Amino acid sequence: MKIKKAIFPVGGMGTRFLPATKSMPKEMLPVVDKPLIQYAVEEAANAGIEQFIFVTSRGKSAIENHFDHSFELENNLLSKGKRDTLKTAQEMLKIPGSFAYVRQQEPAGLGHAVWCARHLIGNEPVAILLADDLINGSNTTKEMINNYTSGNMLAIMDVNKKDVSSYGIITPGNCLQNGVTEVNGLVEKPSIEKAPSNMAVVGRYIIEPEIFDVLEKQNKGAGNEIQLTDAIASRIGKSNCFGYKFSEERFDCGSKIGFIQANIKLSIERKEMGSKLKSWLHNELLEYNK
Ligand code: UTP
Repeated sequence: MKIKKAIFPVGGMGTRFLPATKSMPKEMLPVVDKPLIQYAVEEAANAGIEQFIFVTSRGKSAIENHFDHSFELENNLLSKGKRDTLKTAQEMLKIPGSFAYVRQQEPAGLGHAVWCARHLIGNEPVAILLADDLINGSNTTKEMINNYTSGNMLAIMDVNKKDVSSYGIITPGNCLQNGVTEVNGLVEKPSIEKAPSNMAVVGRYIIEPEIFDVLEKQNKGAGNEIQLTDAIASRIGKSNCFGYKFSEERFDCGSKIGFIQANIKLSIERKEMGSKLKSWLHNELLEYNK
């Protein structure tokens, strides 16, 4: 099934990164030299997405500017003959009209943010990407779309039992082919005692359009927010729900440690600085462990 639209919820307040996120969107925090949101957009484009729908909020205009021309910058680079840098600034732009923005007027939760995009989605399944889950490799959304047949699909990974209360956790059913598992239940941020497994949902979803109707009437859940996972859980038994166990490495860039780890890993992978950074890290650790 072809999926052409993706929602990028970027309406959250990013409080775990204060004061950095006081006047700058969390999704604009850079990993090496690219903002988190650009990694997510590139992953979606790599999956064949043609319409990119952002759910923004007050103070997030830097995201809109990032995906637009900056004529002053481009003219400056051109006049200085910096063609490679100019290419970097231009090739990330998509064709005019492929980006749309709606406002979430209050940070009432991920489910609420997704619901705010309802008028831009027709009667068709849509992908959702959370930019603060950085997946290194850009293929996970594409693989999910390739394996999607119907209903709802969630990216899943195993987490330590002690961390289950930070995630949506699934009750796994039968394992099907290509990393796809039936989902028989789903609970948001359970206690260790109540968690049905250690298989956690991370920020990649494909949802059926019926989810918007569920979200319309949904009460607040964990954290006093309208949760997307609660809406998906309520559809289990009425439509298919699948987990997709992705193989690429994921960094939780909504947390400081995950964000730092992503920066280190992706910097090491850069040929212009990887070996320099590795030897610096090596020496630092030797010093530290003395
Ligand atoms: P998070 O809960 O990780 O983001 O939501 P947050 O609330 O901004 O972060 P903290 O906990 O205060 O540090 C995951 C994604 O969902 C979006 C966020 O922008 C983030 O990309 N989100 C969250 C919304 O769009 N709206 C919301 O009301 C909540």
